Amino acid sequence: MVLWGGRFFKKSDNFFKKFNSSLYFDYNLAKQDILGSIAWSKAILSSNIITYDEQQMIERELINLLEKVTKEPSIILSSDVEDIHSWVEKQLVDKLGALAKKLHTGRSRNDQVTTDLKLWCKSQVIILMDELTNLEKKLILVAEKTIDVIMPGYTHLQRAQPITFAHWCLAYLEMLKRDKSRLEDAYQRMDVNPLGSGALSGTTWNIDREKISCLLGFTNTSNNSLDSVGDRDYVIELISVASISMMHLSRFSEDLIFFNSGEANFIELSDDVTSGSSLMPQKKNPDSLELIRGKCARVYGSLVQILVLLKSLPLSYNKDMQEDKEGLFDALYTWNNCVQMSGLILDTIKVKKKNCYSAAQLGYSNATELADYLVTKNIPFREAHYIVGQIVLEAINKNVSLEQLDLCTFQKYHTVIEKDVYKILSLESCINKRNSQGGVSFLRTKKVIENEKIRLNLT
Ligand code: ARG
Repeated sequence: MVLWGGRFFKKSDNFFKKFNSSLYFDYNLAKQDILGSIAWSKAILSSNIITYDEQQMIERELINLLEKVTKEPSIILSSDVEDIHSWVEKQLVDKLGALAKKLHTGRSRNDQVTTDLKLWCKSQVIILMDELTNLEKKLILVAEKTIDVIMPGYTHLQRAQPITFAHWCLAYLEMLKRDKSRLEDAYQRMDVNPLGSGALSGTTWNIDREKISCLLGFTNTSNNSLDSVGDRDYVIELISVASISMMHLSRFSEDLIFFNSGEANFIELSDDVTSGSSLMPQKKNPDSLELIRGKCARVYGSLVQILVLLKSLPLSYNKDMQEDKEGLFDALYTWNNCVQMSGLILDTIKVKKKNCYSAAQLGYSNATELADYLVTKNIPFREAHYIVGQIVLEAINKNVSLEQLDLCTFQKYHTVIEKDVYKILSLESCINKRNSQGGVSFLRTKKVIENEKIRLNLT
């Protein structure tokens, strides 16, 4: 069954038919298409296009169909119709004959497809919000356990200043919070019902669009039919939110891959999220993390694709827009999988406290502390910075840490340095003194964890 046979003499070429079809991916929208159709049947009932009994018959059949496709979505794929909208209509015609043919009155696949897609996107946002929240909780649990695990913090991948493993976890928590807030923003903007826009210019029938919005759970109703059917901003926004979040997950993965390396040896990943080498028996590879890092690329691919797809596309609907779906589905499924995989990794991560501590002791990561110490003795910071630079150089030449230098050596560089310097050079002191808001101190970290647990109902 094609939805447009009347002005054609010839049937579609088989190759074109396949080329034109979107059923093999838009079957994902079956539920939304059926719910949209039920809402539409109610709308055309209000404008007396069908009677109450007819509407009830249509609704009953659509509900049956929904049950059938929920149980077995693959039944859709055996059909050779053009798309999910044609498929749903055909099922209805098979059951109800002429009555079913009334359903499309005043409606176009152009407003139908974007309604379906928006409903799908809205449901995905809810699912993704939950998955991100799960990951947030897991980060907090690891942070709680590693509040006293001191490790080096890096800039330029050089040991910079000591931090705690918990502080690292909480950095990613902040990123996830921003990801969630971007999703919420995107949700609000997409929560506008396009159904009732017709093909592009609205519908001649007296349709209560606010009522349709209400039936489908949309907060708002679109203002301009031309824009409504041509708009895919919400697809771009969702994939871009996914891309930013995938960027976060790729950095999370990269950090953990490094922490897990033989060179750093700060963590051990569990057997159930790693795999071995076919040749080298000693290997345990962080495949899960590498895949998250790699899958980031395909989400970016979808973002570039949708941006290019819509660039310069004239208003309103063009068939090009059928190409909006596969990238979107793939990007959101990939993102969801990566969020889940990240959580699984955190469930079983083993943090090696001793190794982290030893590494933090190397690399002069307490040099800033020494400069701050000099500042407390009234030496301007720039001067202090220079003096400490010279002291570090001497320590490097002697191949010792700052705290291993004797007091005479320190005093060679400045006489204000006294015995109390050793206390401030300890890693614990470095951590505790960073007690400004957002700082790494144990006290601050504890408070952050407490607040976040309240926010996420983890108490
Ligand atoms: N399968 C189409 C899509 O995904 C549905 C809309 C078709 N509209 C049309 N005028 N051919 O975009």
